[in-house]
Amino acid sequence: MKKTAVMGASGRMGREVISQLTASSLLEFHSGVAQEGGEFVKTPENLNASDVEVVIDFSLPEGFEKILKFCTDHRIPLVSGTTGLSDQHFQSLKEASQKIPVLWASNMSIGVAFMSFLLKQYSAIKHFDFGIEELHHSKKIDSPSGTALTLKSSLEEAIEKPVDQVVALRGGGIYGIHKVWAMSPDESITLEHTALNRTVFASGAVKAAEWLVHKKQGQYSLSDVLEL
Ligand SMILES: NC(=O)c1ccc[n+]([C@@H]2O[C@H](COP(=O)([O-])OP(=O)(O)OC[C@H]3O[C@@H](n4cnc5c(N)ncnc54)[C@H](OP(=O)(O)O)[C@@H]3O)[C@@H](O)[C@H]2O)c1
Repeated sequence: MKKTAVMGASGRMGREVISQLTASSLLEFHSGVAQEGGEFVKTPENLNASDVEVVIDFSLPEGFEKILKFCTDHRIPLVSGTTGLSDQHFQSLKEASQKIPVLWASNMSIGVAFMSFLLKQYSAIKHFDFGIEELHHSKKIDSPSGTALTLKSSLEEAIEKPVDQVVALRGGGIYGIHKVWAMSPDESITLEHTALNRTVFASGAVKAAEWLVHKKQGQYSLSDVLEL
């Protein structure tokens, strides 16, 4: 069993990841980091690096920065689902991938990875108008969601034009709804994904970590894991 550390261990996603790790036959929960500490350590430097074999991160951009440095310094594979990252963060991720295996995904569900895959077909209707809608719970900080931005970029690549309309709604306890609209004067198509729980993201991240732990340095995506 590979010893797994969780960054953001006290959060909504971190707790779910720890729970999903109990179902893994390859990974086991070893230690956690949370800003406020509590039952976990407060910074990655307080982790016992020689014991940690893989890290799963669901925190905030500042936490992502710290855990990326820790993993790079200690040559530990990193799976991260933290969103709200800047271009500089993505650049750091790219640089880290020269030394360690990294997998970042704005959405760890198979459904959204499949949705991105389907969007490649939208090149056939590139003359349509397009828009993206996303809805999340009221506590979500970043807006539009990382998933909406990923879908936007997949769509723009397929239709070879910018998608300017991205609408974000926040409220209640919605885990995540993403809808891609394609509209012509005569018809409309909507491609919609609804996350029915948080487990879907946590189990996706655990599956990604089980896969990543055996890889050499490089930057990987969820579609590599799912072979989409
Ligand atoms: N990729 C996906 O599939 C997916 C799915 C859902 C959510 N997300 C993303 O995952 C992230 C976490 O979401 P959440 O709902 O779990 O948030 P949350 O409940 O607010 O939890 C955030 C966690 O990160 C910790 N943290 C934040 N900054 C830190 C720092 N500088 N150092 C150490 N720990 C730090 C927090 O510790 P304290 O509580 O002690 O402050 C907490 O444990 C967000 O970016 C969210 O958008 C991604």
